[in-house]
Amino acid sequence: MVVFALAVLVTLSSYAAGCSPGTNSTELQLRRMEHQPVTAQLAAVFQEMESLRCEQTTLQQQQNALTQIHQMSPRWTTEREVGTHVLTYGSHDHDDDEEEEEEEDEEKSLRRRGDPCFHYTVLDQAWRATNTTSKFKMCDRNVKWKGWYRMYYKGQSLQMPERCVPVNKCGTHSPLWLAGTHPRRRDGIVTRNVCGHWKKRCCAFRSTPIKVKKCRGNYYVYQFTQPSSCYLAYCADVNTLVCGRCRRNQSCVSRDKINWRCKRKKRLSSKKIHFFASFPGNLMGKVNRIKYSKVLVNVGRAYNRRTGVFKAPVKGIYQFFFSTVAGRRGQKTDLWLVVNNYWVAVSHSHISRPSTVSSLSTYMTFLRRGAIVYVTQNCGQSWANAASTTITFGGSLLVQMR
Ligand SMILES: *[C@@H]1O[C@H](CO)[C@@H](O)[C@H](O)[C@H]1NC(C)=O
Ligand SMILES: *[C@@H]1O[C@H](CO)[C@@H](O)[C@H](O)[C@H]1NC(C)=O
Repeated sequence: MVVFALAVLVTLSSYAAGCSPGTNSTELQLRRMEHQPVTAQLAAVFQEMESLRCEQTTLQQQQNALTQIHQMSPRWTTEREVGTHVLTYGSHDHDDDEEEEEEEDEEKSLRRRGDPCFHYTVLDQAWRATNTTSKFKMCDRNVKWKGWYRMYYKGQSLQMPERCVPVNKCGTHSPLWLAGTHPRRRDGIVTRNVCGHWKKRCCAFRSTPIKVKKCRGNYYVYQFTQPSSCYLAYCADVNTLVCGRCRRNQSCVSRDKINWRCKRKKRLSSKKIHFFASFPGNLMGKVNRIKYSKVLVNVGRAYNRRTGVFKAPVKGIYQFFFSTVAGRRGQKTDLWLVVNNYWVAVSHSHISRPSTVSSLSTYMTFLRRGAIVYVTQNCGQSWANAASTTITFGGSLLVQMR
């Protein structure tokens, strides 16, 4: 009795350690069986051999995976970059609105790093407005420009015109306008040409290029430089005053660059991928790829019931789960989730008494389009019948990425 309890204890501890070799438990089990018929002893030895073989295959597979990772280190690096990319949530793959949530935290660190969106000089000079015609003329060549500027008109944020402005407006002779579109948030800091209108030529003065950045909250900052000559001055477009009133979930749009309006941002319509399937029978020993033939859900048709393979139709973050009921005395049952030929997650059970145990394993990962996912039974026995839904495999696309 004491020996038996000890054997269970050792088996349990080897179970806790996963697939670690359980030689101690073998010895104890054999000693316990000393007085039993040779056939029973032999059966126990064979069973133990089977389970050791299982461990060996698993270790071999893991070693192969490690070797592959080692050999493909350049590719591995890019994948890690992709990983970072996921964390920063796609600095160049998404619409501005997708970045919103992450940026509460990001905002603080950006402030520290001297982001021009937080470090600018307010340039609130009414004479710069596109609708003013003043007697005196200003020249921005006489200004010592330093750092970044945000344009205002009487306390309200606005932006540079993206269109040729009539001469003698903006408190100068030749008004400077942005020859190009304002950048999107994901573009970061961009360089843009500025043009000065003179004598019916919209770009009579090709002035020194400036830097522009779009900031959160629908405003822009400009790194102005001394214009090439006098009298040239940077314009502030009063038509864009409306942009300062756009909400966060809106963007400021214009077709003609004269009439601006706030427009609700489009959300990335995420593709819907969900599947759930079961295998309606027992699985004995090694099964290279379990063909879960009873499909209960297959939204997006990414799971193939004939092959048992799930193929990621889009790039994104996926979650998978797979379950089994393992049984039979003294046997290890290992089911592995296989992603692009890597064994990534195991459902392991080792039962020494006549009993069964249910197991559910989950895994979440970033997948590129076309990635292959399936489940393999490396050893043991899984139990199910047509109605039990015990050997199952399912998954969902959580976040789609571009
Ligand atoms: C220029 O436009 C602003 C804003 O629409 C307006 O308040 C102001 O009166 C206009 N100035 C002139 C001279 O038309
Ligand atoms: C946009 O944001 C405002 C608050 O900033 C909110 O009241 C409004 O419901 C939002 N609209 C949509 C469509 O999300």
